[in-house]
Amino acid sequence: MKKHDLVYLTEDASHDAAIEIINEEAFGPGRFTRAAARIREQGPHDRSLSFICTDNGETIASVRMTAVKAGCVRGHLLGPLAVRPSHKNKGIGRELVRIAVEAARRKSSEAVILVGDPPYYQPLGFEKVRYGALEFPGPVDPARVLVVPIAANVHTRLQGMIAWRDDGLESDGAICASREFAA
Ligand SMILES: CC(C)(COP(=O)(O)OP(=O)(O)OC[C@H]1O[C@@H](n2cnc3c(N)ncnc32)[C@H](O)[C@@H]1OP(=O)(O)O)[C@@H](O)C(=O)NCCC(=O)NCCS
Repeated sequence: MKKHDLVYLTEDASHDAAIEIINEEAFGPGRFTRAAARIREQGPHDRSLSFICTDNGETIASVRMTAVKAGCVRGHLLGPLAVRPSHKNKGIGRELVRIAVEAARRKSSEAVILVGDPPYYQPLGFEKVRYGALEFPGPVDPARVLVVPIAANVHTRLQGMIAWRDDGLESDGAICASREFAA
């Protein structure tokens, strides 16, 4: 495979079937029971921040982003991230993460959050969230909850439930305002 065969594109509905196959191959049927998947079930992901990689026109990797409210932070949950086994270890996963985080920054997201392996994500700018600060709708290993903080005081404001949000509609309310003041 030559590097210049790879093209990174914003996801659209025509990629759905291929992404389903990639995620099934990477995570198996158990993927729907994971805590992060339960958040993603609460509403659609944000296609404008979700990306695929093609090799000679074939979709071989995907990253999705979902708008979330995490405590008082209006951010995005990154995942699933998956690369077909035939294309692993060529920097594609890292590039998809870089593109997604950069796109979130441009869209004024406050943070990119995920549940994943720290050794893979920390070199990409992710930091550990304070142990137990975020409550997921299912069990997670708190040591695997990571964030790229984009706005100010993100670590202080990441405290409470994480849930899907309708991008741009709701306000943070008094509890978040007082936390920001305290920070
Ligand atoms: C994890 C995954 C997305 C990485 O994609 P990729 O394109 O193969 O990875 P990259 O080429 O960007 O990076 C490869 C490097 O990451 C390392 N790496 C891969 N998975 C890792 C992990 N889980 N933890 C730590 N390091 C990891 C590789 O050993 C390699 O290291 P090297 O550069 O020192 O040789 C891919 O292996 C995959 O789809 N796995 C199955 C699904 C999955 O686990 N998704 C992530 C959920 S958190």
